[in-house]
Amino acid sequence: MHQVHIEPSQTTFSCHERDTLLRAGLRAGIAFPYECNVGSCGNCKFELLEGELENTWDQAPGLSEKDKQKNRHLGCQSIAKGNVRIKLREQERYAPIHTPIKTAAHFVEQRVITHDISEFAFETAEPIEFSAGQYALIELPGVQGPRAYSMSQAGGKHHRIEFQVRRVPNGVGSQALFDLKPNTPVSIDGPYGMAYLREDSSRDILCVGGGSGLAPMVSLARGALTSPKMTHQHVHFLYGAREERDVCGLDMLESLPNWSQRGHYTAVLSHQAPGTPMSSDRLNGFVHEAVASLHLEQLANFEIYFAGPPLMAQAMLKLLIEQKVPMDQVHFDQFY
Ligand SMILES: Cc1cc2nc3c(=O)[nH]c(=O)nc-3n(C[C@H](O)[C@H](O)[C@H](O)COP(=O)(O)OP(=O)(O)OC[C@H]3O[C@@H](n4cnc5c(N)ncnc54)[C@H](O)[C@@H]3O)c2cc1C
Ligand code: FES
Repeated sequence: MHQVHIEPSQTTFSCHERDTLLRAGLRAGIAFPYECNVGSCGNCKFELLEGELENTWDQAPGLSEKDKQKNRHLGCQSIAKGNVRIKLREQERYAPIHTPIKTAAHFVEQRVITHDISEFAFETAEPIEFSAGQYALIELPGVQGPRAYSMSQAGGKHHRIEFQVRRVPNGVGSQALFDLKPNTPVSIDGPYGMAYLREDSSRDILCVGGGSGLAPMVSLARGALTSPKMTHQHVHFLYGAREERDVCGLDMLESLPNWSQRGHYTAVLSHQAPGTPMSSDRLNGFVHEAVASLHLEQLANFEIYFAGPPLMAQAMLKLLIEQKVPMDQVHFDQFY
């Protein structure tokens, strides 16, 4: 066990031998800024003042050459080799709402959702407690580095963890998931993420998912429509797909007890070939355009959640900034 001392707050936390500084900090309740947990966003940067670190991924895109020259490191890719002293600005909004744990798990089953999205269920040795919209890290045999996937359940304390994953062409981690054999051991570490369900908000909810962003939006809708604290909020669920064969999600929502009174689903197709059959309740275009055409005037009245590929997330953010939606009503973790 090593000690990590933070300047200027003078806080110290303990870090297990093979844990990263970020995750050990969050386990200790430190408000360590982060987002992706997988080396891409750069939000977990800190400066090393004293001591030695091992870097788990030299090529991580979240750290530039300039950062390296300034002795900056990524919290999610740094392992302490002894006691260290670091400079980091803690930010209260990152204080974990549930303490993340790393637990052994094994693969149970795969359920096909579309031609390239499947649900993967794992049984964990210890239960993981999470809120709707959060994600976990999974370490897969033969894959370098963990991968982040959002849970699709409503939240709670679970021994069974379900992810909905899109098979990425040439993607090492997602391909390994699609090839898993039942009972294969893995490890799961979570929960993480700030885009969790705000149960104290009385606003109606807008969930916008694109492609691989299905799971956290399904989780949020499930959470909102089953929460005893949220008895009157409507959930407007927009799913952005390329073409008809990619459309999914509605069957999981329709089975919710309050869906028929408070749920609204729209699928938006961006690449449907002209002349091919399309259901009459679909919209054409990109999902952020559908958000604008359906809800432009009311955007600032919603609690807004979104997830999906970076371009979709950027387009959503631009729209919400243009419409002056207060940012404390907007919740997303970018997918990298
Ligand atoms: C917060 C969050 C939530 C997500 N939720 C979902 C979800 O619910 N469903 C879904 O389908 N996808 C989700 N993703 C995307 C998912 O994590 C993967 O990026 C995606 O499946 C592609 O992974 P891959 O291994 O197939 O592709 P690859 O191109 O092989 O790997 C890309 C990912 O692996 C990491 N990586 C690559 N090489 C290394 C290395 N040597 N060491 C450490 N890390 C490495 C990268 O940072 C990147 O995250 C989420 C991503 C984030 C950040
Ligand atoms: S949280 Fe470390 S780079 Fe994103």
